Amino acid sequence: MKIISSVSEMQIFAEELRRSGKRIGLVPTMGFLHEGHLSLVRRAREISDAVVVSIFVNPAQFAPGEDFERYPRDIERDKSLLQSEGVAVLFTPGSGEMYPQRFSTYIIPEGISSVLEGKFRSTHFRGVATVVGKLFLIVQPHAAVFGQKDAQQSIIIKQMVRDLNFNLQIIVAPIVREQDGLALSSRNVYLSPEERNDAPILFQALQKAEALIHTGETDAAAIIHEVEKTIRGKKTAAIDYVAVNDAESLTEMTTTQTGRPVLISLAVRFGKTRLIDNIIVQQ
Ligand code: PAJ
Repeated sequence: MKIISSVSEMQIFAEELRRSGKRIGLVPTMGFLHEGHLSLVRRAREISDAVVVSIFVNPAQFAPGEDFERYPRDIERDKSLLQSEGVAVLFTPGSGEMYPQRFSTYIIPEGISSVLEGKFRSTHFRGVATVVGKLFLIVQPHAAVFGQKDAQQSIIIKQMVRDLNFNLQIIVAPIVREQDGLALSSRNVYLSPEERNDAPILFQALQKAEALIHTGETDAAAIIHEVEKTIRGKKTAAIDYVAVNDAESLTEMTTTQTGRPVLISLAVRFGKTRLIDNIIVQQ
């Protein structure tokens, strides 16, 4: 596995891969890798000849007071995991490479970036779109793989690709969960034993919502109420939001009677740790 930390070196190597007819698959990450990330790497391997994984804890997507400084990092462990997954290149740029002095050009997604996560993290998707757009230009992938775990992020990136004519395919892979249903996240290591015990309630609540829809409930407010009631049963949980949206457009749904796939998503704080999760219900 080649390790590259300079932008220009990555660009030259990507150019060489393309010239030799290789299909490049990119998996952007912030590191501290888990099975969720590795599932994306495996998906990328299936559809490309050379997989590039980027590890960059992107300061632009963290607001002041969020967890940028304490975000977990373990680059040596990440390297050995990626090595055994047959990754061609690990791209680990430094902050100064990605955001040199006087950096001033951002990609600002509008509309869908101000709902759900965007309501609570107003500059988050500007940071995500900017760094992902930069990675697309640096790595020049034919395809990039993202996780359904960050449902809104995946939708915003697809929109950006359409709007700005990035010439690549976006693939969204399913959420990988622990045995007890908790979605894997680099942030799970922050949870105290008691919080970790309570956290599987998120998936249980989402499954309840799915069951409700399947038994004929169409009122979004009733579905949200049921999810919130379930989560409130755990005393370490504090709800930021529970929402019901169209799974493709993110339009808020008041009724699920549209027959379209429904995205039920939530953000819940356990102490200082903010977790997100979601489920798509096909009707
Ligand atoms: P990060 O949180 O490291 O996640 C990297 C990718 O892994 C994202 O596409 C995310 O949706 C996916 N992922 C995380 N947990 C997952 C799980 N349990 N199952 C399946 N996929 C999972 O998302 C980011 O980094 C950043 O915003 C990034 C896109 C790298 C831009 O900085």
